[in-house]
Amino acid sequence: MTAARAQDVESLIARTALKYDLLPYTSNPFPQTQPARLAAIAHVFGLKYAPIAQAKVLELGCAAGGNIIPLAARFPEAKFVGVDLSRTQVAAGRTRIKDVGLSNIEIHCKSFTELGTEDGQFDYIICHGVYSWVPAPVRETILRICKERLSDVGIANISYNVLPGWRMLQALRDSFLLHVPDNNDSRSRVAKARELLDFLKNASHDTGVHKQNLQQWANRLAQLPDDYIAHEFLEETNEPCTFTNFVEAASRNGLEYLGETDLAPMVLDNLPAETAKRVREIANNQFLASEQYVDMLSGRTFRQSLLVGSHRAAEINRNLTPASVASLHFLSSAKMKLERAPDDTLTLRDVQERKLTTKASALANALERVAGAFPGSFSVDDLYSSLPAASRNETGKSLVLEAVLKMLLTGMVTGLAAPVDAEGSPSADAPVAFSIARHDAARGELATTSLRHERVQIDALGQVILPLMDGAHDKAAIRAKVEHAIAEGRITFHRDGKPLVPPEANVVAHERIEQMLTLYANAGLLVSA
Ligand SMILES: C[S@@+](CC[C@H](N)C(=O)[O-])C[C@H]1O[C@@H](n2cnc3c(N)ncnc32)[C@H](O)[C@@H]1O
Repeated sequence: MTAARAQDVESLIARTALKYDLLPYTSNPFPQTQPARLAAIAHVFGLKYAPIAQAKVLELGCAAGGNIIPLAARFPEAKFVGVDLSRTQVAAGRTRIKDVGLSNIEIHCKSFTELGTEDGQFDYIICHGVYSWVPAPVRETILRICKERLSDVGIANISYNVLPGWRMLQALRDSFLLHVPDNNDSRSRVAKARELLDFLKNASHDTGVHKQNLQQWANRLAQLPDDYIAHEFLEETNEPCTFTNFVEAASRNGLEYLGETDLAPMVLDNLPAETAKRVREIANNQFLASEQYVDMLSGRTFRQSLLVGSHRAAEINRNLTPASVASLHFLSSAKMKLERAPDDTLTLRDVQERKLTTKASALANALERVAGAFPGSFSVDDLYSSLPAASRNETGKSLVLEAVLKMLLTGMVTGLAAPVDAEGSPSADAPVAFSIARHDAARGELATTSLRHERVQIDALGQVILPLMDGAHDKAAIRAKVEHAIAEGRITFHRDGKPLVPPEANVVAHERIEQMLTLYANAGLLVSA
């Protein structure tokens, strides 16, 4: 890099820091980035991975640590390091770490271009929502860090905007940048961008895809917060690349493409048979080429790719067999339903209407177990032990493995290298919530993270009851504290728009507490006994 170019990059980094200081990004958990999920993908492709409970994890551009802080709470023996430029975001993360009392995580406030070697090697490196939003030399730095700092069995996860799909969004970004002033008042820039989009979507006289694109994005952006719009659409740098370019850049830096955090879109057999056949033909049966064609077909705008050191390339085995899933844990996104037809055909169906159909009646209890495991995970061993005694043999094991592999490849479940021990029932007399949820609620936060590593909202009632869900307070004690909060005016329930007072307010409160406990159980916030 020339001195002038290096100076440009430095001043761009400083401007980025200022933008995130002035309008911090909502710092969320991303289930797809969690090491247990990355490890499971590596495992199905035949690679070794570091055990999650003792892993070392680095997150580049971690904002306020919303992704790694809950993981640090869940895996106290693992070690987490975050790096982010923005002082405001890092300060918020450090306060949360201190409040929760975690000693296995730190967040450095610096540019990752300045990252030293003092933290050693990492088993997992996560870089979510950063790569496309930094200039080319910084993108190279991200890849260099992954190459240099991954342990021998390390896995990196980088997400980025992809072409050609992102071109549809480029029309929006171009229009916004032509219209909004170039200053640091991000909120008013977003307000202007929203106003422009509102005008364009209604007034556009186009009768084709342009107007449809405007209308579709206007609807979506209306649901998204200002910080997302500011940093996704209005940042100085947003340089999507093709999948092919990304793989080339990784390879230049000694890294090998492994796969995506979501397996199902990588499985050509999930496409209509004729389409899959044609993709295989035009891609010459080459895996990377077919991935590129899938982007063209789907119009995908965002990828979440896994990379490993190129010394592991020869170990990657993309021929997935039932044995590949044997030691993993599996999670569904919602409770599935098992149906039994008069001819004894079993159909396990998820909320997106994906299904597993089998005539193997021996699997009935095992599939019931899959449905019943939600919001927690299940393992192959769990299913095997649910088979009738007479089927607990090699044939039974194969039936289970094949069923699990099918659910994994169609996206009905995701694989994990560590279990999710979440209690699905709110029936315990003294329920226990995940520690991070208790602390977040006590701090007055409006959202927290579940054991499934998903965001869960907290309302005023949740702020009172979650901190009490430590196993030391039974439901009677929780109800008494809520009644106290009502008496003090900290919580108010309404009927027909009018505030309720005790005793009616207390009756409503008791009902609401039960509803919230069920909701928290379903969200994976309750720890299983
Ligand atoms: C769009 S946000 C994404 C935050 C988080 N990873 C997520 O996905 O929600 C990008 C983050 O990268 C950080 N960032 C950008 N350039 C950076 C750099 N050179 N060094 C460290 N952090 C950087 C920003 O401060 C910001 O917090």
